Amino acid sequence: MASPATGEVVIIGSGLIGQSWAMLFASGGFKVKLYDIEPQQVTNALEKIRKEMKFLEQSGSLKGSLSAEEQGSLISGCLTIQAAAEGAMHIQECVPENLELKKKIFAQLDQIIDDKVVLSSSTSCLLPSSLFAGLVHTKQCIVAHPVNPPYHVPLVELVPHPETAPATVDRTYALMRKIGQSPVRVMKEIDGFALNRLQYAVISEAWRLVEEGIVSPSDLDLVMSDGLGMRYAFIGPLETMHLNAEGMLSYCDKYSEGMQRVLKTFGPIPDFSGATVEKVNQAMCVKVPDDPEHLAARRQWRDECLLRLAKLKRQMQSQ
Ligand code: NAI
Repeated sequence: MASPATGEVVIIGSGLIGQSWAMLFASGGFKVKLYDIEPQQVTNALEKIRKEMKFLEQSGSLKGSLSAEEQGSLISGCLTIQAAAEGAMHIQECVPENLELKKKIFAQLDQIIDDKVVLSSSTSCLLPSSLFAGLVHTKQCIVAHPVNPPYHVPLVELVPHPETAPATVDRTYALMRKIGQSPVRVMKEIDGFALNRLQYAVISEAWRLVEEGIVSPSDLDLVMSDGLGMRYAFIGPLETMHLNAEGMLSYCDKYSEGMQRVLKTFGPIPDFSGATVEKVNQAMCVKVPDDPEHLAARRQWRDECLLRLAKLKRQMQSQ
């Protein structure tokens, strides 16, 4: 297989996630070809990417060692999937979350690729065993699930099909590292992968606490943003346990009984409807009205926060 430091990367689907991947690969010095079923979408994406790269350069947040202009010139559009796939070493699929659509694209790619390229899907929740079922090149297939916005949140979950070759996982892992992302290996496929399983566990208990009138929706969010979240940006829940006592063994010795007592009181899976959704929605709309302008402004603020947090994390790592 080709070295992950060279070769062309192809992005299939140039929407939100496709654009972010294109920027990340260009920041690592890779040539990127963008393909979309809507040619106008590629033109718009190229324009947005160049504008965003300039902005990031001006604010000192552009990734990689090349200038915005140099990175921009590495990305080009492509009119057919065949032309895009030719000579590629990594193909990152980023079309909408629809199993039939994704399967159709992988079946199409399966017929035109050689045995060297890695076929990777950005899917948030489709399992590799259904996505890549029946393909000739299954060994070269993998899910590389990014977190939105991928340019500012580096985690990528790598999830193999049961027949994915270990070399495909290793190569994708190395490629993700090369573009500054933070890959994790999910050893076996599981619904929700790792990130969404954790996220849904948190959402579920958040919902129950609000539903039972224990805390208000806005206070619930503060428990995370001004409490747990402050350290979770730097250390995970397991290291938090390790540091919150004299090591992990001491933590389990001291706190396992209490944890189990509390965990036994957790309620059933919420249905996320009815009076509670009204209550939560009302509180969220007071904070951020749900019209496109307010939502976009708040997302922009969130991305600015993430950008600064990413800078802080880099500084803290280099100490
Ligand atoms: P999007 O809707 O912004 O972009 C999808 C793009 O695919 C559009 O430009 C569309 O024209 C194009 N497309 C549709 N059919 C196509 C075809 N047959 N061939 C080529 N291009 C085609 O979607 P988004 O948000 O970028 O999501 C893409 C994937 O990334 C989905 O699987 C999603 O689950 C996953 N993902 C999304 C995240 C998010 O927060 N938006 C986070 C992590 C993963």
